[in-house]
Amino acid sequence: MVQPLLSVENLKTFFIKGDVEVHAVDGIDLTIYPKQIVCIVGESGCGKSMTSLSIMGLVPKPHGRVVDGQIWFGGQNLLGMTESQLSTIRGNDISMIFQEPMTSLNPVLTIGDQMTEVLLRHRNISKLQALQKVIEMLEFVGVARAKDIVKEYPHQFSGGMRQRVMIGMAMICEPKLLIADEPTTALDVTIQAQVLDLMKRMRDEFETSVMMITHDLGVVAEIADQVVVMYAGQVVESASADHLFEDPLHPYSQALLKSIPSLDEEKEILYSIPGTVPDSSKYPTGCRFAERCEWTQPSCIEKMPELREVKPGQFARCDLI
Ligand SMILES: Nc1ncnc2c1ncn2[C@@H]1O[C@H](COP(=O)(O)OP(=O)(O)OP(=O)(O)O)[C@@H](O)[C@H]1O
Ligand SMILES: [Mg+2]
Repeated sequence: MVQPLLSVENLKTFFIKGDVEVHAVDGIDLTIYPKQIVCIVGESGCGKSMTSLSIMGLVPKPHGRVVDGQIWFGGQNLLGMTESQLSTIRGNDISMIFQEPMTSLNPVLTIGDQMTEVLLRHRNISKLQALQKVIEMLEFVGVARAKDIVKEYPHQFSGGMRQRVMIGMAMICEPKLLIADEPTTALDVTIQAQVLDLMKRMRDEFETSVMMITHDLGVVAEIADQVVVMYAGQVVESASADHLFEDPLHPYSQALLKSIPSLDEEKEILYSIPGTVPDSSKYPTGCRFAERCEWTQPSCIEKMPELREVKPGQFARCDLI
């Protein structure tokens, strides 16, 4: 049996300041297998970025902290590691493309210097060998004139090019896991399609698993093997992409799918889910979606449903299905 590459169990990441506890990630489970592309979807504020930052050991200090759970990566619990152990994994075995593009590019260093620095930190090679590898990687991610580009600075690039450079930088050590937080949001559709294509090539050529965070279900349909739907710090549904699009089980997943703009139907008004995500410092006791769900029963408000396997391989957190 194939072993998971990453296995997150009951992860809880809170922000604690005085009496206020923000439950950003509130007990999530997540498994990623080798060469799998897993998309995490959900509305703004439901804990997607905090889940990825928890895996990377980069939860914002001093208030943010992982308070419970385990994160297994290739048989090691990342949460039990020291900062120096983690830093040998970061950028090497696991790397990340951040939601804010400029956070991972240093404006005062050339692209060549930044990328070779990552390689030299993790590999015992010469500067010249590192530079050659950087140029090869830039060519792989579709950057034209890679030999000249290495001497340039991030602000000299267009959005699409910057995104490619960031993917190249994240991939330079050929990580086993690439975490990409909304990598295509700021791009026009043509460039977006090219970036998604590139991620698939990464998986095929380097056997990289990808954890992709997005709120765009079009992106999910294009790229995902497996989908995890998050709502208010929890997983509400987890399924293969085929199952999720064919038969979404959780009312929140159904509502998300209903809100995709459609060209082939005569839908005059675009559906939007009524209400808003509950305040993450005051979650209700029962189902967190109950307030916005069209099927809510009194039992939904009284008791929090468990995430359970409703159909083979398809898990949902709803007692009404
Ligand atoms: N530094 C912080 N201090 C306090 N609360 C925070 C902080 N960063 C995030 N949060 C809270 O944690 C929750 C989860 O945030 P997170 O950034 O993971 O959401 P997200 O799903 O990535 O949203 P988006 O789609 O907008 O990027 C939110 O309620 C947010 O307000
Ligand atoms: Mg985010």
